[in-house]
Amino acid sequence: MRSSLRRPRRLERLTVIGGLAAALSLGTVPASAGGVQLQALPGSNLTAAAPATADAPLPDYDKEIVDRFDSANSVNHIRHLAVDIGPRLNGTPQEREGAEYIGGILKSYGFKVTLQQWGPVSTKRVAKVTSSDADLPGGPNWQMAASTSGKFTGDTGVKGQVVDARTGQSATEFPADTEGKIVLMDYSTNATIRNTAVANAVSRGALAVILAYPTGNSAPPSFTLTTPQPGIPVVGGGSAHSTWLRELLAKGALTLTIATNEYANPMGTNVIGIRPAVGDPDGTTAPIVMVGAHIDSVLGAPGAHDDASGNGVSLEVARVLSQYPLDKELRIGGFGGEEGGLLGARAYVNTLTAAEKARFVGEWQMDMVGTPYEPARLWALTPNGQSNYVVQEAYESAARVGFDGLRNCRLGQSDHQAFYDVGIPSSLFIWLDYRPPTPPAVCGPTGGTYVTEPQYHKPTDTMDNISPERLQTTLDVVGGAVAHNALNAVTVSALSDAGQPLVGAQVRADCGNGPRDLGVTGASGKLKAVFPHITCDVSVTAEGATATERGVAISGDRAVKVTVDLTKPTISLTRPADGAVYTLGTATTASYRCEDNLSGIAGCTGTVPDGGPLDTSSVGFHDFTVKAVDNAGNTASRKVTYQVVYPWQAYFPETMSGKAGSAVPIKFSLGGDRGTGVFAPGYPASQQVACDTGKPIGSAEPTRNPGNSKISYGGGQYNYVWKTDKSWSNTCRQLQLKLDDGTGHFATIKLK
Ligand code: BES
Ligand code: ZN
Repeated sequence: MRSSLRRPRRLERLTVIGGLAAALSLGTVPASAGGVQLQALPGSNLTAAAPATADAPLPDYDKEIVDRFDSANSVNHIRHLAVDIGPRLNGTPQEREGAEYIGGILKSYGFKVTLQQWGPVSTKRVAKVTSSDADLPGGPNWQMAASTSGKFTGDTGVKGQVVDARTGQSATEFPADTEGKIVLMDYSTNATIRNTAVANAVSRGALAVILAYPTGNSAPPSFTLTTPQPGIPVVGGGSAHSTWLRELLAKGALTLTIATNEYANPMGTNVIGIRPAVGDPDGTTAPIVMVGAHIDSVLGAPGAHDDASGNGVSLEVARVLSQYPLDKELRIGGFGGEEGGLLGARAYVNTLTAAEKARFVGEWQMDMVGTPYEPARLWALTPNGQSNYVVQEAYESAARVGFDGLRNCRLGQSDHQAFYDVGIPSSLFIWLDYRPPTPPAVCGPTGGTYVTEPQYHKPTDTMDNISPERLQTTLDVVGGAVAHNALNAVTVSALSDAGQPLVGAQVRADCGNGPRDLGVTGASGKLKAVFPHITCDVSVTAEGATATERGVAISGDRAVKVTVDLTKPTISLTRPADGAVYTLGTATTASYRCEDNLSGIAGCTGTVPDGGPLDTSSVGFHDFTVKAVDNAGNTASRKVTYQVVYPWQAYFPETMSGKAGSAVPIKFSLGGDRGTGVFAPGYPASQQVACDTGKPIGSAEPTRNPGNSKISYGGGQYNYVWKTDKSWSNTCRQLQLKLDDGTGHFATIKLK
């Protein structure tokens, strides 16, 4: 199984740096003839697409969108939530800050944002621990449990140096300068030991007390003391806190600020971003595609993986999809109180009307979407263990990007359960070491078991528990599925001019920024592709011929028929006719035409243009070609041959008689002086023939001339003297004059 799918990124991309500013830059996609311009939408951040050519076409929209996903942007969102804000326990101001951050980013992408308050929930008592002189491991904002038995300082808190008093059970464990310091001691599960430790610290004038688990990497404990200590804050930390603090103390002095707050029956917060569909601004009819994640984390945990990661992926999906006009309504949900029992998601689904629920295509829940923990794999987990539309679409997206590691089984335990419970197809997408039931048990009725990464629900769930590669896989696979569903489906039917489906035909589209390859038609001659809501020219190429359906408005799920003209154009050639003979210098014109009843004629070219003068300026055989091309690219050609000849005039009889061995003068005219090279090679020749039938006997041989005589021209005629051979007495011979214009002239002589 491949765990990551990093590809080179063609497009320059935006990086969101912990805030909104960078997300606000605008760009446009260049327009070209044929389609309409894709406008930058308000608040969008369209990056210029690479220029497309016929040789290097753009990818289909599925691929284009997936190529734009960049997990580096997700990582920045995760860092803001898990580091800058820190732990986001349900009902605390940090949960709300998380919601506000997500809402701000979504607003910058043009979403309508609502913060939903719900509750009240149980009282939360928390400590925020920060340091003015140390870089706290795991992030600058630590969360611990604030004991009800201690003081609630409010946001200002107390600030002081830290001393380590170990178990805090004996006087020797307390440093001499404990007074006015923050005293770190081991948290004991024994209440008496705990009480003694705190009382010992208080008696030595402690500014505050931290009781942290010495081992076990546990989350911070909530506890009470038998002896209340209302004068100082008393807080509980996990073993990671204890380890980190003792490491810092080993390096030197350490100052901490501890602010304890009691949030009595607070409200939880959800953030919902809605991007209405084109043509349905009020959101009454358009299908809804929703992506969810939870904002809150458990007490003490920065929740980088669980579940800042989910929001990091949601926001990157939102950023890229905000660049396209869509007919689907896109909703991004950041839910509070998930760790308290899916509270925020349940509050949200309760606000949905029946009509709204009916519009849902599905909810893709992103929870823990990229830990580097090696045994974790990408799972699509549903409450009933069955596949559903949301799962199937993720599988199809995985196939498109070449990821074969997605698996489906059964689990609730996240916000997808709330959607499932109200009948909305949903699935949890999670990187988890999930172990499906042992066969023959199957995932449907039986759930599996799982092992979480060691940082799960711990203070160590920090940026170190984030894998950009696995986030990218989640973006490509799950984000790709969301994008595919947010776009319009268009089914292109390719037909021949005879009405037959064209199988394996190449389909392309130009939606204003250059040709885009969509693939080839299947067995039914159809291809389903997705487009944003724009106007495109759709082309089909089969057998070298192309047809284009111009200005196809993409909306709803539409079918587009493209009929390809596969019929060659016809050529009618009147002049020159094949085999026509013209006398040298004759003035005549070419005459031809090309026709195509289907796509029409794009070009019709001959050796000379139609109506143009035919070349009769040189003797011999001439080819004349006409080539036709139609608008589909079908070609036809016709070739004829005509002959240009001298104006021949013979001044010798066709039959003669003479004496063998005598010279025979041959005179003729070619209508002027054509030079002396007028005979074809090997001519004149003579050939014995039967005197009675004229049938040839033996083979022809070149003529001989008396003395050194050659052909000559004078007085408007050619003179040639043929020397007959004495041995030819009592035979008949044919004199053969073949000229370089391709004509042959003959005379027969009877020799005595
Ligand atoms: N992100 C977890 C979901 C989860 C599922 C984690 C399976 C690990 C394995 C979620 O935030 C969570 O912790 N859920 C609670 C249940 C919830 C209903 C309170 C849990 O799994 O304990
Ligand atoms: Zn979670």
